[in-house]
Amino acid sequence: MFDVPTWNEKRRVKKCYDLTSNIYNIRYSEEQKNKYKRALLNVNFNQKSIVLDIGCGSGLLFSYLTSKVDTIIGIDLSIGLLHKAKENNKETNIHLILADADNLPLQTNKVNIVFAFTMLQNMPSPLMTLKEIILAAKTDGQIIVTGLKKVFSLEKFKELLEKSGLKIVAIENGSDLKCYVAITKSLVNSKGFIK
Ligand SMILES: C[S@@+](CC[C@H](N)C(=O)[O-])C[C@H]1O[C@@H](n2cnc3c(N)ncnc32)[C@H](O)[C@@H]1O
Repeated sequence: MFDVPTWNEKRRVKKCYDLTSNIYNIRYSEEQKNKYKRALLNVNFNQKSIVLDIGCGSGLLFSYLTSKVDTIIGIDLSIGLLHKAKENNKETNIHLILADADNLPLQTNKVNIVFAFTMLQNMPSPLMTLKEIILAAKTDGQIIVTGLKKVFSLEKFKELLEKSGLKIVAIENGSDLKCYVAITKSLVNSKGFIK
């Protein structure tokens, strides 16, 4: 459903990221790499896996994925950051899409692994966003999602994940991380029911 205040909030967020796209990597690459390394220890890759990086930003995660899987889809609302992602990643197995995480232009039940690093805090309804992500993922697909500690308490973050239909496999919560890094599995089947 299209709702004007919600969309205006998304446009505001998009504009902020567009305006700062030139300095995103300088500001955040060390912080993000820390999260990726912790997450990737817990993920099982298969060369044929379809991987979705939702809110991919400047594509910092891609270099960790390109040799591991055949297909990587990066989705973001900021055209400025998607241009950076394109500039920084020339591999042909990366497909970039300008889209809203709440309205994914993907078939349901197709993606094997989803990453959503430091994205949920930007979303007007994180629960709705998680449900949309889960629809794109296969049942039992691995979904790696982070929750910014200054926005979510650990309890609220866990509650949110479970309410959306995710089974928590592990949560990385080191003092060096600004986010909780949750490794989860989708329990939702192709018809949208929790199994
Ligand atoms: C803190 S950045 C994280 C970027 C990337 N995941 C990383 O690890 O560096 C948040 C990202 O979420 C994107 N984003 C915010 N709202 C979005 C929306 N509604 N749909 C898709 N992407 C969105 C922003 O454009 C930005 O790239």
